[in-house]
Amino acid sequence: MSDLKTPHSLPLAEAMTIAAQVVTEVMQGRSLTEVLEELDAHERPIVQSLTFDALRKWVRSHELIALLIPKAPPPEVDHLLSVAIALFLQENTDGKGYAAHTIVDQAVRACDLYDQTMYAKGLVNAVLRKVSLTVAPPKGEKSYPPDPIPMFFPPWWRASLKKNYPQSWRAMLIAQAQRAPMILRVNQRQYTRSQYQELLEAEGISASPIAALAEIPLHSALLLKNPVPVSALPGFYSGSVSVQDAGAQLAAVLLNPQPGERILDACAAPGGKTAHLLELADCEIIALELDQSRLGKIGGNLDRLQLHSDVVKIIRGDASKASWWDGKLFDKILLDAPCSASGIVSRHPDIPFLRREADIRNLQEKQRGILTQAWKMLKPGGLLLYVTCSLFPEEGEVQAIWFALNQSDALRLNAPGQILPTETNDGFYYALFQKMSHEPTH
Ligand SMILES: C[S@@+](CC[C@H](N)C(=O)[O-])C[C@H]1O[C@@H](n2cnc3c(N)ncnc32)[C@H](O)[C@@H]1O
Repeated sequence: MSDLKTPHSLPLAEAMTIAAQVVTEVMQGRSLTEVLEELDAHERPIVQSLTFDALRKWVRSHELIALLIPKAPPPEVDHLLSVAIALFLQENTDGKGYAAHTIVDQAVRACDLYDQTMYAKGLVNAVLRKVSLTVAPPKGEKSYPPDPIPMFFPPWWRASLKKNYPQSWRAMLIAQAQRAPMILRVNQRQYTRSQYQELLEAEGISASPIAALAEIPLHSALLLKNPVPVSALPGFYSGSVSVQDAGAQLAAVLLNPQPGERILDACAAPGGKTAHLLELADCEIIALELDQSRLGKIGGNLDRLQLHSDVVKIIRGDASKASWWDGKLFDKILLDAPCSASGIVSRHPDIPFLRREADIRNLQEKQRGILTQAWKMLKPGGLLLYVTCSLFPEEGEVQAIWFALNQSDALRLNAPGQILPTETNDGFYYALFQKMSHEPTH
């Protein structure tokens, strides 16, 4: 058989081999984003798609593996099987994808590339042949019953969501196991949302405003009917548009920056929200970031969007300390805090594998340290927007209540609070506080 090329000209067997190795690294505790960034550009799109699907379908693929192999296979074989089985499950759910015999052939070929033993090759062949009959059975035969939540979530994670969202937890987790849609943020310095929508349509790219957000002033999100490579987006390289989830686009809109205001973006990398603030107004921004390796991404983003100006200062520093601060108070503070990222797992399906229950308590402490310090840097009358992409109340509503109780000059203003994930948006938490000019007398 000749090499079957993927749409990105990497043979499927090779892409499966790399994807299985990437899954192995994630299972050893590395971040998927970090591992994918190490791949060559021509490998990344297909390997990303294969690994995302493997992680999203983890529970279902492992039910099948357990059913078909009495003794658990070694991790390398298990990970290759998960990549291949996810392709079957994909094919079965959306009617697209590779033919069953192609998946089997290419997975067996991947065993060679992966330097597997004859035993592993035989096992992969036998298991996948059986899976092809189980997942996509011949007409008239009963198919494998679908697990309502195909993705892996640790028991403590499921239990927390079940307790906090008894009505909606299941729907949320099912939505998070879907492929996330591609959502754009139009740079309003260059185009209005409807102008850019027309540009897309002229290129044959179908997009629509997001119904729930369309009426929010300044909101410029467009939902693409089908994802496209960013190189196909008109003006992407000259900064007309960015890729950003709709929920994340609320941050700059809620903070509503005004020309001349001095704004602290306290946890800024990779700079998506810094850029959005600057797209909305000529404000003066301090973009603070603790992680040196992420700092460079902020400047890169601003350069592409043609927003880099002398009014943005990118500083490496710890937002829970004042050592980096020049003592000048801020009009507004965006605190997009480090968090569990439990609301964005459809875009980061490795997160449920990497988080530990104890992380939530540690993150809560970090968030409190940053909130307390940031508040001291805010002008009386100024606004602080607290944001996380978490679903756990410990990082959301519990924090907002704790903060309001502990800061006697904090007035809680109207903001969305907990936004739950759906098939079109990620989960976020937003709380907005104003610093009162005088402490209350009672
Ligand atoms: C949720 S991400 C920010 C995303 C960013 N606002 C955007 O929209 O592109 C949180 C960031 O906070 C950084 N961070 C964590 N602890 C910090 C601290 N103590 N001070 C400043 N930044 C911190 C992390 O390295 C991470 O880049």
